[in-house]
Amino acid sequence: MDIQVRRAEPEDYEAVWRNFTDESAYTGTLQLPFPSRENWRKRLAEPADGHVILVACVDGQVVGNAGLHPAGNSPRRAHALALGVTVPSAWQGKGVGTALLAALTGLADGWLPVFRLELTVFADNARAIALYRKFGFEEEGRMRAYALRDGRYADVLAMARLRPKAA
Ligand SMILES: CC(C)(COP(=O)(O)OP(=O)(O)OC[C@H]1O[C@@H](n2cnc3c(N)ncnc32)[C@H](O)[C@@H]1OP(=O)(O)O)[C@@H](O)C(=O)NCCC(=O)NCCS
Repeated sequence: MDIQVRRAEPEDYEAVWRNFTDESAYTGTLQLPFPSRENWRKRLAEPADGHVILVACVDGQVVGNAGLHPAGNSPRRAHALALGVTVPSAWQGKGVGTALLAALTGLADGWLPVFRLELTVFADNARAIALYRKFGFEEEGRMRAYALRDGRYADVLAMARLRPKAA
């Protein structure tokens, strides 16, 4: 399967919004059910400084999205970016997440003054944890009752990846 990864453009907002209507997408991330299409339109039309959002496409159809986001406002954390990735259930397990992670880690390692990529992942999300480990993310700790998920407070793992040595 030929998976193309490119920057999200304003006209992708409906496809990205649709990805987040998928139950597994909002359950596995910190998004809410009933995502707002208008919020996604604004977010892609006027991307905030320092945010990179990519989409993965198969035959021109958007089949996943992923992003790098500033990890905080302090200049002392300018070397860190938070990573997120979402693939709707119909496309999971087909290499889309892998293509998106390859693109984001390649961008961070080769083109951005970034030393640390970080994320949180629900502790029982085996597929996501496998994906992150494959790209060199390591577990740094477990945060208990971190987020409400379908009526229960669920633990997450903090994972991070330090940039491989340059040159
Ligand atoms: C997690 C997610 C991004 C992974 O993307 P994907 O396209 O499904 O993943 P891939 O097909 O690229 O596979 C990733 C790896 O996980 C492995 N994997 C798949 N299912 C697995 C499972 N149930 N347990 C362990 N590993 C699994 C695959 O074998 C693959 O590794 P490999 O290439 O070495 O074989 C995607 O499933 C998703 O968006 N899920 C819902 C939202 C979510 O949980 N996002 C992550 C928030 S932290």
